[in-house]
Amino acid sequence: MNQPISIAILAAGLGTRMKSRRAKVLHEAGGLPLVEHVVLSALELAPPEHITVVVGHQAAEVEARLQHRGVRFARQHQQLGTAHALLCAREQLGQHGLVLTLYGDTPLLSSQTLRRLVQHHQQSGAAATVITAVLEDPTGYGRIITDESGFIEAIVEHKVASEAQRAIREINSGIYCFDAAALWEHLPRIQANPVSKEYYLTDIVELFRAAGLRVSRWLHPDPSELLGINTRIELAQVDQIFRRRKAEELMLAGVTIRHPDTVSIDREVRVGMDTVIESSVAIRGRSSIGENCHIGAGAILSDVEIGDGVTVGPYTVIAQSQIGARASIGPFARLRVNNVLGPGVHIGNFVELKNARLGEGVKAGHLAYLGDAEVGARVNIGAGTITCNFDGERKHETAVGEGAFLGSNSTLVAPLRIGAGSYIGAGSVITDDVPPDALALGRARQVIKEGWARRRRQSRAVSSGDNRSEAQTTAADQHLASHIIRPGGTEK
Ligand code: UD1
Ligand code: MG
Repeated sequence: MNQPISIAILAAGLGTRMKSRRAKVLHEAGGLPLVEHVVLSALELAPPEHITVVVGHQAAEVEARLQHRGVRFARQHQQLGTAHALLCAREQLGQHGLVLTLYGDTPLLSSQTLRRLVQHHQQSGAAATVITAVLEDPTGYGRIITDESGFIEAIVEHKVASEAQRAIREINSGIYCFDAAALWEHLPRIQANPVSKEYYLTDIVELFRAAGLRVSRWLHPDPSELLGINTRIELAQVDQIFRRRKAEELMLAGVTIRHPDTVSIDREVRVGMDTVIESSVAIRGRSSIGENCHIGAGAILSDVEIGDGVTVGPYTVIAQSQIGARASIGPFARLRVNNVLGPGVHIGNFVELKNARLGEGVKAGHLAYLGDAEVGARVNIGAGTITCNFDGERKHETAVGEGAFLGSNSTLVAPLRIGAGSYIGAGSVITDDVPPDALALGRARQVIKEGWARRRRQSRAVSSGDNRSEAQTTAADQHLASHIIRPGGTEK
């Protein structure tokens, strides 16, 4: 039972049918590149150093994307087929025990399926076991030909299959378990297919049989798990399956999702109990959301860390930010990157934050921009407050001390320090540091001109005629006519 297991994931092909400049296995579904899903399932069975990904097309990009998972890589410089790809990984893979071979383009595969494959293989006494499935439409897949005792006699690729063979609906999933010794003995003997000139891994079945070895099959009950992606239509189908799976996983773990068909939650996202997710929400990357949160309709959250009891209003966009417990954000707020919000912070509509650290209980209720800012606890940020953090060349910091009150429409020209407990008068342009507990005013004084508006109306009437004869025009009117706003807007 305890045979060592090593795993090969073949991911070197371009995927011509994707019609893309990007390697097929880098296309994403469920928020991760296809091949990364396969790696994640493999990692549940074997330690990373026992997993080898065979890369070729855009090898450097694929390696970079998977590096953090700790797996090994083998390069296939020319894509001569799946048998050739596996041979490229021979050095890295185990020479004894079992070798599992997976394809980088079947991302729905679960680790449970892999465990059952190994189990089935060990019980069957065969030299190889293939996972098969019966599909409504088997177009494109290799077809399974069996003998009278149910072992596999051959796998025939769609491209080279006869009409009768194409009628077979049992297909090769591309997931195999091999006895390592038999695999390495026979793999190098596979010949190029005369039609396609490729070395098909599936041809190993006939070599095994000729050597008196048996190839067993395990018919998977859920064919959707084995979907191999070759086109963008299949990519969209698989993406949808991932979304549904994830929503179901979260609902079973105590999360309310109002319209599960409309939400899009990536595979590695975590959500706490009793959180409610409204319709059309997207939660991406490695986001984690606490318990008892409410995520409003249409919110888009990427790589966020959200504490317990947080409310995110509808149509709020948050990326790479941390939000403390009981905060409320939005609706219609945008937190761009690198924001750290303390507990109980309130961010209202049309507020934008970038690289801002807000202490406990800070309030910015409406229409503000805080960039490169450090804001102390309980600061009140009036509507229309703007940090002028960019001077055209460099970014500058704004620091606001605890409990300060920034009046509406404050313009804070950074670099700037505003002392704790100070007041900034509404409409101020603040260019100099403000000491603690001070009042800072940076605006022109209000002027009152009694009767000015009435006089202006009258003089307007004069210049447009307004049913009065010129003779009726008083001297006072003429005086006023010269005292009105000029077209340029300046007052005389
Ligand atoms: C393959 C199987 C087919 C099976 C189907 C399941 C073969 C010959 N055929 O067909 O029986 O029903 O998968 O999805 O194995 N790859 C390399 N190097 C290469 C060629 C391919 O690494 O030289 C990788 C690809 O990146 C891909 C995987 O192998 O991840 C499968 O290749 P693909 O071209 O998609 O094979 P299919 O035609 O789908
Ligand atoms: Mg394929």
